[in-house]
Amino acid sequence: PPVTGTRPVVVVVGPPGAGKTTVAELLADRLGVRVRDTDQDVEANEGETVQDIFVSRGEPVFRELEAAAVAEALRTHDGVLALGGGAVMDEGTRAQLAEHTVAHLDVGLAHAAARVGMNSGRPLLMGNIRGQLKKLMDARRPLYNEVATFTIDTNDLTPDEVVDRVLKEL
Ligand code: S3P
Repeated sequence: PPVTGTRPVVVVVGPPGAGKTTVAELLADRLGVRVRDTDQDVEANEGETVQDIFVSRGEPVFRELEAAAVAEALRTHDGVLALGGGAVMDEGTRAQLAEHTVAHLDVGLAHAAARVGMNSGRPLLMGNIRGQLKKLMDARRPLYNEVATFTIDTNDLTPDEVVDRVLKEL
């Protein structure tokens, strides 16, 4: 297994519903390292949920807070790091990710919509979840591919199987 240093062992990216949080936790367990999640970092820093930040301060403010939290985590976290699904929209973040090992969890619309439906509260996905998700996935796919060191098609895999695939790539 890889030795931990002063940088994340692996950064996990992908759209909402790809299973980033679950896979990052399992992966960290298997590697014996800590897990960190930039949505949680923003919430801890602000004392407010991501959803509340979107509502009270708007998406652009959230994106700034997110970019800062990602930069800090990339600099200081030495375990597994899961990014929020939209973090790759930031050009500076993409440039920083070029220096890291990035696992892209790819997922089809049907699977993603089913997973997101079970876990609501995502501010960008209110109302027509499937339609919103499709738009967002289409727009971001090139960005996930751009930052990915490797991509895993998660559609027919359990979270444990996804972790196995990631471990083989490291
Ligand atoms: C977002 C994804 C969320 C969270 C915020 C915005 C997005 O994270 O950062 O709601 O733009 O895709 P998850 O990918 O963990 O749901």
